[in-house]
Amino acid sequence: MTTPTIELKPSSSPLSDAEREAILANPGFGRHFTDHMVTIRWTEGRGWHDAQLVPYGPLALDPATNVLHYAQEIFEGLKAYRRPDGSVASFRPDANARRFQASARRLAMPELPVETFVEACDVLVRHDKAWVPEHGGEASLYLRPFMIATEVGLGVRPANEYLFVVIASPAGPYFPGGVKPVSIWLSEDRVRAVPGGVGDAKTGGNYAASLLAQAEAAAKGCDQVAYLDAVEHKWVEELGGMNLYFVYGNKLITPTLTGSLLAGITRDSLLKLAADLGLEAEEGRVSIDQWQADSENGTLTEVFACGTAAVITPVGTVKSARGEWQQSGGEPGEVTMKLRDALLAVQTGKAEDTHGWMHEL
Ligand code: PLP
Ligand code: COI
Repeated sequence: MTTPTIELKPSSSPLSDAEREAILANPGFGRHFTDHMVTIRWTEGRGWHDAQLVPYGPLALDPATNVLHYAQEIFEGLKAYRRPDGSVASFRPDANARRFQASARRLAMPELPVETFVEACDVLVRHDKAWVPEHGGEASLYLRPFMIATEVGLGVRPANEYLFVVIASPAGPYFPGGVKPVSIWLSEDRVRAVPGGVGDAKTGGNYAASLLAQAEAAAKGCDQVAYLDAVEHKWVEELGGMNLYFVYGNKLITPTLTGSLLAGITRDSLLKLAADLGLEAEEGRVSIDQWQADSENGTLTEVFACGTAAVITPVGTVKSARGEWQQSGGEPGEVTMKLRDALLAVQTGKAEDTHGWMHEL
């Protein structure tokens, strides 16, 4: 498959330096977008074409566009960081590109070549480099590549036209208020994904399906929902937008990739980073009974959630229909914070990148 060259059509009216600086002072998460976006089209029989960098702006869609009805859509999330010398690097974009291909296969969509995905992200970050927050804190430029079915018509079948887009948004911490433990609602009835379904694809429908449970969790005073497997309602899988790690002293366990949870890139990175820090990390199955019992008997010392947007976030209170308990006294745990600092140090260029994860721009 050939990689189309990205034609540059830069904005004639980017935001002023003062307006951009005002946004960067308090970016929040996903609220503001940079001056440009990259778009690439795919048409049956023609392949990928019309790759462009254009001013950020609305997409005009016919009301009968396929994606609006049948949700044939996939997306990714990755970050670019400012390093101490002012240069910019993104974290494992090739891994996101490969996961995007896997999601495309599951949703019967065309696969974008890995190098085109990475090039599209690179071109956008290079043009909107001034939007990458300063080195020093945790802020970054969050990239959101996505693809939608653009064929017009109401027939239910894989579309014959698609649009790939990359947008970028400066990001402060995902959970405002700093690193404080999140509270979790452990859902024993609502499920996020089923065996044979699309749980391991990054597709919008999974997130739509999680919203009601998330609203119910919020009504119970919890920040996030943890989902169990859909068959036995017993095995812990993941949160709506993050993977989970269970810490037993120096030993870490993250739920096995059963097909109904997302293969997080942060999760994968931590399996490797933990070993660097002298911790033992492995995949395994953790039941809800074990979670509760081991928290209560003190062997399960910490639990944390991880993902691109949220980095690593400690779990504090856990609530479920069977009761409520606290992880590590409701405080961020030592192992959690050690891993968090180590990961952020690599991402922001403070520590040596021994795994070759950073992609320089
Ligand atoms: N699980 C779900 C459902 C997600 O949406 C995300 C976020 O991307 C993750 C896990 C974590 O994945 P990653 O570390 O690749 O961001
Ligand atoms: C991410 O961490 O990149 C996610 O996609 C999580 C959420 C914002 C959907």
